[in-house]
Amino acid sequence: MRHIQIFDTTLRDGEQSPGVSLTTGEKLEIARQLARLRVDVIEAGYAAASPGDFAAVQTIAREVKGVSICSLARATENDIMRAYEACQPSDAPRIHLFLATSDVHMQHKLRMTRDQVLQQVDSAVRFARAKVPYVEFSAEDSGRTDFDFLVEVVKVAVAAGASVINLPDTVGYLLPHEYAQRFVRLRERVDLGNVLLSAHCHDDLGLAVANTLAAIEASVDQVEVTMNGIGERAGNASLEEVAVALKLRQEQYKVETRLDLSQIARTSKLVSRLTGMVVPANKAVVGANAFAHESGIHQDGVLKERTTYEIINPELVGITENKQLVLGKHSGRHAFFKHVEELGYTLSDQDMQDLFKRFKDLCDKKKQVTDEDILALIDERLYGE
Ligand code: KIV
Ligand code: ZN
Repeated sequence: MRHIQIFDTTLRDGEQSPGVSLTTGEKLEIARQLARLRVDVIEAGYAAASPGDFAAVQTIAREVKGVSICSLARATENDIMRAYEACQPSDAPRIHLFLATSDVHMQHKLRMTRDQVLQQVDSAVRFARAKVPYVEFSAEDSGRTDFDFLVEVVKVAVAAGASVINLPDTVGYLLPHEYAQRFVRLRERVDLGNVLLSAHCHDDLGLAVANTLAAIEASVDQVEVTMNGIGERAGNASLEEVAVALKLRQEQYKVETRLDLSQIARTSKLVSRLTGMVVPANKAVVGANAFAHESGIHQDGVLKERTTYEIINPELVGITENKQLVLGKHSGRHAFFKHVEELGYTLSDQDMQDLFKRFKDLCDKKKQVTDEDILALIDERLYGE
């Protein structure tokens, strides 16, 4: 089994979600939970962005052990120094440098030539390597970077001492096979030695998880993800979706992570509560409906054998409470009778049949019938109106 490192950027790219701003205390709480989830790297922030971000990275680097703590930095000496000072108390400090390499970014944003970019990559990576042993270099907007130029950039970064090369699909533009091809072709053109390759995908076309999985098939060593898929614009590849896909299809991917998947539900809830980013009910793995079955046919199937309609055991991701069967107008008798029993009632067949009829009438008036509604129906049936 090949090991895949999980680089969590919930506290950096995730915090770049519009409207999200976390205090140092909140970030520390999330970082502690990410350590329990056993991610390999926590990108705790962008130290040079503000005194608050610096303090958060430094506090996490001091307090959260057993995991590498990283700060983002632009490819400048000032940013690198701030990142170094902030993450230096970590057992395994890491600096994550980035510089844009696509023509559109170099021309309009950086106003730099290709040669100038190559020179800056070289000097920034060398400067950072003199501070910490672990330096990651990201070629921002690599997905739209001319491939021959990308090869030159990576060669320079590797020669300057980068430990990880990240090819971010910054604007979520690539299709899975195109993204995978970039890693395959890069390995053919650059002698990487011990240098790791990393994938970082955005979800503008809803392909972030698919692209991340394609990169793993193309043998990247690390993936950059966020909890609940939060992040700039449409967000980043979601940690929980990537992790569960790898677990369920382990035979196909032949990779392992050190994640404790049973911490996923708890981490998701914490991130949602502290960021204020509500998890959509139909979100894979962690949405409220991810393990809920409404139609009678599905409910009957799941009651007979869970795997008829469930590929993920909710317990795998730490969901222990039984919220599987949602009662609504599509629910069948079996599910309804079982639910009444779970509420603690053993009723005669006739009471049950009558109750089921009343329940169906109520469903035509209400989209979702709650336990309180059912208890009221039972009261009516047993003790009169
Ligand atoms: O999406 C991106 O390009 C980034 C970089 C800073 C790595 O987040
Ligand atoms: Zn990003």
